[in-house]
Amino acid sequence: MNLIERRLTTSPKVLPDVSQLGFGQHFSDHWFYSKYTKGKGWHESAIAPYGPIPLDPAASVLHYGQALFEGMKAFVQPNGKISLFRPDFNIRRMQMGAERLCLEPPPADLFIEGLEELIAVETRWVPKEDNCALYIRPTLIGTEPFLGVRPSREVLFYIILSPVGTYYSKGTAPVRIWVEDVALRAAPGGLGATKAAANYAAGLQAAVGAKDKGYDQVLWLDVEREGIEEVGTMNVFFVLKDEVVTPALNGSILAGCVRDSVIQILKHEGMKVSERRITIHELIEHQKSGNLLEAFGTGTAAVISPIGEIAYKGSPYYISKGETGSVSRSLLKTISEIQRGLAPDIFGWMRPVNPR
Ligand code: COI
Repeated sequence: MNLIERRLTTSPKVLPDVSQLGFGQHFSDHWFYSKYTKGKGWHESAIAPYGPIPLDPAASVLHYGQALFEGMKAFVQPNGKISLFRPDFNIRRMQMGAERLCLEPPPADLFIEGLEELIAVETRWVPKEDNCALYIRPTLIGTEPFLGVRPSREVLFYIILSPVGTYYSKGTAPVRIWVEDVALRAAPGGLGATKAAANYAAGLQAAVGAKDKGYDQVLWLDVEREGIEEVGTMNVFFVLKDEVVTPALNGSILAGCVRDSVIQILKHEGMKVSERRITIHELIEHQKSGNLLEAFGTGTAAVISPIGEIAYKGSPYYISKGETGSVSRSLLKTISEIQRGLAPDIFGWMRPVNPR
């Protein structure tokens, strides 16, 4: 068991109005942090009032981008207790991403103990309402002040909490997608399979470009600008008449927690799920022949985000008549009910928060 110091705020914030939550705009009263120094190990773990991080201007994260994060959610259960959705998945993914970025990975027990203690202090911040959750943002950064290019010998692991509503301002209505055939999100051998902060910086310019053209997000293609990789910051699925296709994890695609959950649910329901390469040309052929029934993105933030239209080289292709299809609707219902404890947790995904 890790020693976690508790320094609680004397001026708790007023809770935001749940109808105005949006995504990632409000932060709870406290954060959890733990420091690592090479030769000394993990030390100085605390729950402390939320506030600015003292950081040396030479800290490696600010120069060489050693930054990694996770996205998780906690939900109030019918008995009033709080449960986490698949925390082991995120802990493992952060540890694998840390290796890729040469950051010291936070030990699993430190991660879960810090998170559970933080949530136990912040229970009033977990919204109970439908379509709302407590979004959890574990973050790992290199903090050593040193300008030589090598892995940071000092690391900060921290967790902040944000009560959230739906990710997109239009809720779960289908989004319109621009197929990006110029900019690249990630290349084989790069950082695409990790939740490195740099991947999100790499995607911003195209996302802004898509918005300027009147679209909500971009569809990312591979290095050949043919194979479909992700949609916005999410994994992507296509429902065809005889199979559901999602791009195979080829080294430049993030292994999403909801992606994995959707695959398990669909297989459990007897559907054929193929993790394989699918090109934009194949997709358009399916759309033209009527074989493409639905498309949707999956991610922790938006859960299931139906896609109503994709535009490729300026031509629009409508999916599901621009409406939410039945598979998307049913997946969102199944996952939300498991998360809220309203349906049996048949996959063993929920972990009750056990304050120590
Ligand atoms: C998610 O879909 O969970 C994401 O990763 C989006 C997040 C960066 C806001």
